[in-house]
Amino acid sequence: MKEQIEKLFAELESLKAATAKEAEEARVRYLGKKGEITKLFEEFRNVDREMKKEFGKKLNELKQAATAKIEELKASAETSSASEGPKQDLTMPGEPLSLGSRHPVSIVRKEIVDIFRKFGYDVAEGPEIEDDYHVFEALNFPPNHPARDMQDTFFVSSGHLNPLLLRTHTSSVQVRAMEKMDLPIRVVCPGRVFRNEAISARAHCIFHQLEGLYIDENVTFADLKQAILLFAREMFGPETKIRMRPSYFPFTEPSAEVDVSCNICHGEGCNICKGTGWLEILGCGMVDPNVLEASNIDSKKYSGFAFGMGLERIAMLKWQVNDLRHYFENDMRFLKEFSTAIEV
Ligand code: PHE
Repeated sequence: MKEQIEKLFAELESLKAATAKEAEEARVRYLGKKGEITKLFEEFRNVDREMKKEFGKKLNELKQAATAKIEELKASAETSSASEGPKQDLTMPGEPLSLGSRHPVSIVRKEIVDIFRKFGYDVAEGPEIEDDYHVFEALNFPPNHPARDMQDTFFVSSGHLNPLLLRTHTSSVQVRAMEKMDLPIRVVCPGRVFRNEAISARAHCIFHQLEGLYIDENVTFADLKQAILLFAREMFGPETKIRMRPSYFPFTEPSAEVDVSCNICHGEGCNICKGTGWLEILGCGMVDPNVLEASNIDSKKYSGFAFGMGLERIAMLKWQVNDLRHYFENDMRFLKEFSTAIEV
């Protein structure tokens, strides 16, 4: 027994374990149920009485030494495997990142802005919370015009002469452009607008517009017609025709509503154009001299045209979406339809 104990002491001395698994195997070999040290404890029963004290002490020392050594091996195996870094296959393909895509309204806005940039227009933006002056007063809205009514306009503050409100059109940005910019002015104003409308498939209380303004000497209705025709052909294809119908806006005179030939049935009549062969896309007209004068532009020297369109409406025509509400609900199934339309 004595030799056996000494042999095991020597073995423990040189015991090594590279991994936690090897350390565990060593524990089983020495201290497990059938381990060598455990076996010695069993044999201890048969040791002569007078030797028991000596061997007992030695055996206990052996067991303690073995336990300590194995603990030590386990701890060092764990830290060394941790310092080797994660046991991962770095050549594995990564987790795919889900790519977002532009919102359809943003796609349409970008397309239209790009077209007008080519024509030499700048882009201007302005505040969504505006004052009555920039939304109505400077645009020749008579004081009691129904558009100022609570039914159409969300007022932020009331009670004084120039209340704050949520802009009902981006024409307010055109007023700011006339105040600030040097003539001639060529500008488009995309942005969010607000009207107190019941939400339905065809109307929403928040939507987006893009309005344009051109002021210079000798600008005529023919220039307006040409600009709109060029835009319509860029936007809806080179075969597109336009037609103008007389209309009314307080800030333009004369005013017109513009239709483009239906690019789905090519004028034959379908359910998108409701059998007419025409789709209404924008309102426009020659800037009323009162509007020019309100912004200190000499209406005898200068003239101009303006136009405005709803971006959701253009997007509805482009993708034949028949319910405006889809654009505001952020339903991923709808938005993903446009992920192929992404442009970098
Ligand atoms: N501001 C008008 C609207 O919101 C659109 C428009 C702009 C019409 C410019 C004519 C000229 O409906």
